[in-house]
Amino acid sequence: MTFLVEMKGIDKRFPGVHALKSVQFDLRAGEVHALMGENGAGKSTLMKIMSGIYARDGGKMLVDGKPVAPDSPRAAQDLGIGIIHQELSLMNDLTAAQNVLIGREPRRRFGRLDEAALNEKVSEIFASLNLDMDPRTQVSTQTIARQQLIEIAKTLSYNPRVLIMDEPTAALNDVEISELFALVDKLKADGVGIVYISHRMDEIKRIADRVTVLRDGAYIDTVDAADTPLPKIIQLMVGREVTQETPDIPNTAENPVALEVRNLTRGKDVQNVSFDVRKGEILGFAGLMGAGRTETARLIFGADTRDSGEILIAGQSVNVRSPADAVACGVGYLSEDRKHFGLAVDMTVRANIAMTNLSKFTNKAGILDENAMKKTAADYIERLGIRTPSDRQDVRLLSGGNQQKVVIAKWLLRDCDVLIFDEPTRGIDIGAKSEIYALLEDLAAQGRAIIVISSELPEVLRLSHRIAVMCEGRMTGIINRTDATQENIMELATQTAKIKETTQ
Ligand SMILES: Nc1ncnc2c1ncn2[C@@H]1O[C@H](COP(=O)(O)OP(=O)(O)OP(=O)(O)O)[C@@H](O)[C@H]1O
Ligand SMILES: [Mg+2]
Repeated sequence: MTFLVEMKGIDKRFPGVHALKSVQFDLRAGEVHALMGENGAGKSTLMKIMSGIYARDGGKMLVDGKPVAPDSPRAAQDLGIGIIHQELSLMNDLTAAQNVLIGREPRRRFGRLDEAALNEKVSEIFASLNLDMDPRTQVSTQTIARQQLIEIAKTLSYNPRVLIMDEPTAALNDVEISELFALVDKLKADGVGIVYISHRMDEIKRIADRVTVLRDGAYIDTVDAADTPLPKIIQLMVGREVTQETPDIPNTAENPVALEVRNLTRGKDVQNVSFDVRKGEILGFAGLMGAGRTETARLIFGADTRDSGEILIAGQSVNVRSPADAVACGVGYLSEDRKHFGLAVDMTVRANIAMTNLSKFTNKAGILDENAMKKTAADYIERLGIRTPSDRQDVRLLSGGNQQKVVIAKWLLRDCDVLIFDEPTRGIDIGAKSEIYALLEDLAAQGRAIIVISSELPEVLRLSHRIAVMCEGRMTGIINRTDATQENIMELATQTAKIKETTQ
């Protein structure tokens, strides 16, 4: 049987980085082939070569057994290869429909754009994907998750035979993920070959047929997903065994309260939310997407204005009206949308890490101490395993996950009494996750109060002293670590939905 796509001995170098070292990969029709590896292992680079974005330095690529060398995304499309990128590539000022059919818009006579036909056609595409969206919606008004779905629709509108999905679920909620997987099953049945990249280990068992692992740009192995236990796959990825034990944590129940929130309210998004966090405590926030966790964090951080309610820091009522106010009160917020709020991608790794902490690196004469910055950057690069040729590399040239690590380093370094981390490990590989947990625990041990919003229940259970659960804008419960299980959290996370069902 010939493969749909076959890659052999693929080599690729960037200045200072040997990104792919004679890597092989093949794809059959009707299978999901997961491509796994730590941040910076070379996954996106290999797929950018397959989809005509990068040229390879060496090696062979065959489609249906015939040698090919797609030199543009267009050339790859002509071979039936479509890619859904890790970074969204939509035009923000255009509508959903204009984005989906960009360059292929239906036209009337004299080349005039046929807006009605465009919207009609894209509405059909959306309907076939079960996507409830008005084709005239402007992209910039949509959440990251919905933008991701537009991107998927755009790629599928070419009817690819090979579909590459580079971390498609990083921004999706559970329902959206299930819908995406249903779509994947349908494509598989139609004989499409799918390459699937994700750091969510649980997904691999759910949808992958085979798994190929890369490490440091090298090919490690290809295994059958059903026959290979997850710890084995993780070991192939990181080159050692990763133990996932839940550590004992210090009792913080008697510590002074660092942050207290009383009856915080904003429209329907956040309704009467009250809780406190003590010094040294990690308070987890669980809930489904749209439960109001990010919205609550944004109110505390002054990014949005509250309708009513009170915020107290160290017992003092504070009037936080902007993020600058919040920072002045010692509150920091790592937002879930890091690309827009967290990083200066055209600056170096070192500058990004130091940027928000310049006072730390300024000596008495007001001069920046480059050496201190360099030392700190080196320390975080080492601890978080940030893969970069040097701390002078522009952040834009790092892999997706390594960019995330830079933002995290930035916030870990900040002198805040209260730190809110929104989905801190999204897109982060499994080895670096444990290191981030350890750093968060260090911060707590230093007496900071920490809030971690996370959609991954194992993460919330692993980190939190207590777990606050929200559902549809309300706080439905706060559970102690010792009493918490995935089941009772899920119960609270869907509580108001259930109440509604029974009253209907
Ligand atoms: N355009 C570029 N210029 C310089 N270096 C690059 C470029 N693109 C990628 N790299 C480097 O190549 C290596 C592989 O990056 P790649 O994006 O393929 O990793 P990845 O496996 O997709 O990681 P992640 O899980 O973080 O997305 C990294 O060290 C990255 O910094
Ligand atoms: Mg990548």
